[in-house]
Amino acid sequence: MSEITAATTEDMLELGGRLSEISAPGMVIALTGSLGAGKTTLVKGIAEGLGIKQAVTSPSFTIIKEYYEGRLPLFHMDLYRIDNYEELYMIGFEELIYGIGLSIIEWSEKAEELIPPDAVGIEIKILSDGRRTVFLNGIKL
Ligand SMILES: Nc1ncnc2c1ncn2[C@@H]1O[C@H](COP(=O)(O)OP(=O)(O)OP(=O)(O)O)[C@@H](O)[C@H]1O
Ligand SMILES: [Mg+2]
Repeated sequence: MSEITAATTEDMLELGGRLSEISAPGMVIALTGSLGAGKTTLVKGIAEGLGIKQAVTSPSFTIIKEYYEGRLPLFHMDLYRIDNYEELYMIGFEELIYGIGLSIIEWSEKAEELIPPDAVGIEIKILSDGRRTVFLNGIKL
C-alpha cells in the first residue's frame, strides 16, 4: 500500500495521468472514497492520459460510460445508485470488467463480491484541511 497527497484538483488530475501510464488491458480499479472525495476527478485525469478527448462526466445516472478513443477502452462505472446485483447483470457490468479495457469502478464497495480479486484498490480520503490522501493497493507509481 502506498499513499500520495493530492492538495488540489490539478494534483488529482496529474495523479490520474501517472496512473494512465501504468494502466494495462483488462485492469480493474476499485475506486472508493466518500461523496465528493475526487473519484471522478481522478478518472478524468486517467482518461486524459489515455488520450481520450471526449469530456468525462460522472456516470451516476447511466451507471456505465464507455470511451473508445484512447490507448485503451475505458469503462467508467459508478455504483452509487445500484441497489441489487440484478441491475448490474442487466447492463453488462461483468462482461465489461472481464473485457480488454480499463475498468474503473466508483463506489465499488457496493458490489464487493463482483470485483475480481486481482483488482487494484484506490481509496481517496478527505483530510480536515481539504487536501486528499490517495491510497494505492496493488499498484506502484
Ligand atoms: N485533491 C483535491 N483537492 C481538493 N479538491 C479536489 C481534489 N480532487 C478533487 N477535488 C474537487 O472535489 C470535488 C468533487 O470531486 P469529484 O466529483 O471528482 O468527486 P467524487 O468522489 O467523484 O464524487 P461522487 O461521490 O459524487 O461521485 C470537485 O469540485 C473537485 O474539483
Ligand atoms: Mg464521482
